[in-house]
Amino acid sequence: MLDYKNPNLILETSEVEPGSFTWRSPSNLAIIKYWGKHGVQLPKNPSLSLTLSSSFTDTLLEYKPKESGDRNISLEFTFHQEPNEPFREKVVKFLESVTDIFPFLRQLDLTVRTGNSFPHSSGIASSASAMSALALCLCSLEHELFETLEDDDEFDKKSSYVARLGSGSACRSIFPVASLWGQTGEVEGSSDLFGLPMAEEVHDIFKDFHDDIMIASTAAKSVSSRAGHSLMDSNPFAESRYADAKRKLHFLLEAMKKGDLETFGRIAENEALTLHGLMMSSNPSYILLKPNTLEMIERVRRYREETKHPIYFSLDAGPNLHVLYPGEIIHEVRVFVDEELKPLCEEETYLQDWVGEGPVQV
Ligand code: DP6
Repeated sequence: MLDYKNPNLILETSEVEPGSFTWRSPSNLAIIKYWGKHGVQLPKNPSLSLTLSSSFTDTLLEYKPKESGDRNISLEFTFHQEPNEPFREKVVKFLESVTDIFPFLRQLDLTVRTGNSFPHSSGIASSASAMSALALCLCSLEHELFETLEDDDEFDKKSSYVARLGSGSACRSIFPVASLWGQTGEVEGSSDLFGLPMAEEVHDIFKDFHDDIMIASTAAKSVSSRAGHSLMDSNPFAESRYADAKRKLHFLLEAMKKGDLETFGRIAENEALTLHGLMMSSNPSYILLKPNTLEMIERVRRYREETKHPIYFSLDAGPNLHVLYPGEIIHEVRVFVDEELKPLCEEETYLQDWVGEGPVQV
């Protein structure tokens, strides 16, 4: 099985010049959800996401050769220009976990300076953008030091593999427009180990597509995604959920290829509510939706019914509502969002996002 372990990536430190890389990597919104995992960050079912634009993480990785022979990971870390010890410890742990892939990390003094485009308290999960940005920096570093990743597709594949080890959903953020993660007979070359680019497999309507993220609450989640995944191990509906996700993927791929928004939207909404249904049927059960989330869902459905506009919703593992629609109806939809949904948001906050081109090196 592909594992990218490479004991040969060892430096002659006297020859290394200090340097740095910066990557900007976006978040993504899963339409078929990844919920439940096994082994080392392997998904129980394939998932498919849209790559976002305006919710991103900027990460700068600086490196210089260590002067001491110390083999521990040496990391200085700032988040939004401030030292942040809990985040630093998480990053050190992650870097330790990938030293079989990048053994040279033990030979360098590293600095990571990172920050998100969205407010920390906005209730937007940052693990996908943060871990993909860091994985891209690590692959750039490997290539700079060893000239190993000349081929762009290989670079993306390895970045996606490494991002997955940090956070499963992060492996899908590497690619423009849309990405599929998880082995499925539907798509050749698909794997549980990395995401695949899907931009070529989807209709142009998804290339000008919006996701307005309605902030229903910024309160910390009562149950983390990590704990949520592990509760799936004892969920009585788990096996039928995994089978259902695989079945739905077939219809979603077909709809996205054709630009069939009605089928796309029906699956997106069903998956969002299924995800929360799984939380409600876990043991112990929990609810992340808020009353205003439900009110917003009703208003989206009513608006769709009345106007026949193709506007749909999705949810992540939290109470915020993602409102999805094609760019061609943005003017009408924004009036609805501003008048009917915004007043239901915490401090009337919502984020305007859209399907984007994937990470960029800056
Ligand atoms: C509901 O990728 O955050 O957003 O692998 O433990 O880091 P870890 O989990 P994470 O789970 C994301 C769950 C989800 C659905 C999805 O993005 O597919």
